[in-house]
Amino acid sequence: MKILAVSCSPRKKGNTVSLLEETLRGAAESGANIELFSVSGKNIRGCDGCYSCLTEGDCHIQDDMQPLYEKLIGADGIVFGSPIYFYGMTAQAKTIMDRTFALNKPGKSLANKVAGVIVVAGSLGLIDVLKDFYFFTTIKRMLPANFVAAYATEKRDAKKLEKGMNAAFKLGKEIVQLVDRKFEFPNEFPRNFFAFGTHTH
Ligand SMILES: Cc1cc2nc3c(=O)[nH]c(=O)nc-3n(C[C@H](O)[C@H](O)[C@H](O)COP(=O)(O)O)c2cc1C
Repeated sequence: MKILAVSCSPRKKGNTVSLLEETLRGAAESGANIELFSVSGKNIRGCDGCYSCLTEGDCHIQDDMQPLYEKLIGADGIVFGSPIYFYGMTAQAKTIMDRTFALNKPGKSLANKVAGVIVVAGSLGLIDVLKDFYFFTTIKRMLPANFVAAYATEKRDAKKLEKGMNAAFKLGKEIVQLVDRKFEFPNEFPRNFFAFGTHTH
């Protein structure tokens, strides 16, 4: 079993990474193979809306999203982490979400993977970003695990949060337990935002 943590903080070893590492430690203790991917120092460009992923099958942008695609596809459980930037997720987090538009077919999708979320703020915006992450994971037909929302500002603040670090550790164990359940949405269920939900005028 493979559990992947994706840190969307541009800070190298900041609070998001501290909490994600704790989640991975919990997952490893439960027997999972673990990996941390951090956007820090990476080149991940914005989706250019060419739709070639729908027509050709792959995203044409050759950057650090390409290895991340492989890691996302290969993971059984994924924990996304982002700090709050201007009451929203980081630009890097949104960019990754947009680029997963290319993961839209069987064998190349996020469907049925367990998703956990970690958000970190100095003061305001945690709930809004949690909602955005859970709407993303819902549309992707991922299976929602728990979340951790922590208050931290300076780089090493999160490490001092006993309750937050403990919750992050437990999240790792929970993700492993949920993956073990092998939950699967029926194949005919819609799983992208063209088909998801009902919009009426
Ligand atoms: C550009 C920028 C915008 C931020 N905006 C917010 C904000 O809207 N609300 C908030 O509570 N904290 C905000 N923060 C503080 C970060 O969320 C906080 O420092 C967090 O711990 C950073 O996590 P990291 O160490 O994982 O990067 C902002 C920080 C930066 C650099």
